[in-house]
Amino acid sequence: MNNDLEIFRDEVLLALAEVTDIRAWDAIRVNTLGKSGKLTALLRSLGGMSPEIRKERGQALNRLRDELAHCFEERKRVLEKAAIEARLQAERVDVSLPPPPCLGGERQGFLHPISRTIEEIRSIFGTMGFSVEEGPDIETDWYNFSALNTPDHHPARTDHDTFYLSPRQPTESEQQEIPQKIHLLRTQTSGVQIRTLLAKKPPLRIIAPGRVYRADHDATHSPMFHQCEGLVIEQGITLSHLKGCLTDFLRAFFDRPRLPVRFRASYFPFTEPSLEVDIGWSRQTGEIGNGADWLEVLGAGMVHVRVLANCGIDPREWQGFAFGMGLERLTMLKNGISDVRSFFENDIRWLRYYGTNPFEAVL
Ligand code: DAH
Repeated sequence: MNNDLEIFRDEVLLALAEVTDIRAWDAIRVNTLGKSGKLTALLRSLGGMSPEIRKERGQALNRLRDELAHCFEERKRVLEKAAIEARLQAERVDVSLPPPPCLGGERQGFLHPISRTIEEIRSIFGTMGFSVEEGPDIETDWYNFSALNTPDHHPARTDHDTFYLSPRQPTESEQQEIPQKIHLLRTQTSGVQIRTLLAKKPPLRIIAPGRVYRADHDATHSPMFHQCEGLVIEQGITLSHLKGCLTDFLRAFFDRPRLPVRFRASYFPFTEPSLEVDIGWSRQTGEIGNGADWLEVLGAGMVHVRVLANCGIDPREWQGFAFGMGLERLTMLKNGISDVRSFFENDIRWLRYYGTNPFEAVL
């Protein structure tokens, strides 16, 4: 290569090595390879040279142009990578820091007490080997009632309780013929038992927290509320397992190791025998675990053989228990909340008082 071209090349490469940002890089590139750049001018000057010199110098210039173009691209890649690294460093966010004053400072958000209750329930049952299942809020009559062995005349089926999504309540013969087509807002989370039994093979231990709906509205009823279902299907499960499991759960949830727990005979279509579970409390002071009164907190029972059969499970091989609880009720008892409607009014003062810090460990 001619001496002047070598000098020119070294100058460009030196400038390129010193450049630290993409704008300066582009300025040098335009200055060298652009339309009025130095290399372009050198190529143009070939026109005035004799044919032999033009040939030789032309080849040298073309090689130099390719080499420089390659060096420019290389350098660009390095600069772009460095720019991304620098941005990542500069824009790093420490999510564990408390919010700065400009973002509200002390005024952090809180977990809604129902979310907190769900977290606590998940955590307690999690330690007992339960996993969490979900089902849809819009359910069919079959999952919500029929598969759960709920007779046609059961009061839960009447219009009064259930929000049907079809224009009218189905007749009895329709219920038998097209149970899959009748849609409603689920009135209980128990349908998730059916969904789980159809989708998974036992042994099973699941809980299913979620929203449920009933046409009822006063200080103790909200048309939308929350339940948590539980289901255990294993070999050799007895009523003792049910009692032990729910006693442990209630004592952990209310944080009272000696909480009195009472099991009463009851009726649910999908369990046999069925039980209602009470905890000891004082009606006068509202104190849980102390006092002469009993308060019902959940329903439970041994899974009915017809429910197992409806899901293709052999009741001679598999047994189990189920339970269901209302989460507003549990949360009201634990926190001394008296009106269920306050859960859904979104009064910021109420939320701040009963809400909990989301970063606080559960239990
Ligand atoms: N689904 C019932 C209700 O809404 C609660 C319930 C009772 C669920 C007994 C169960 C159970 O799984 O075994 O009132």
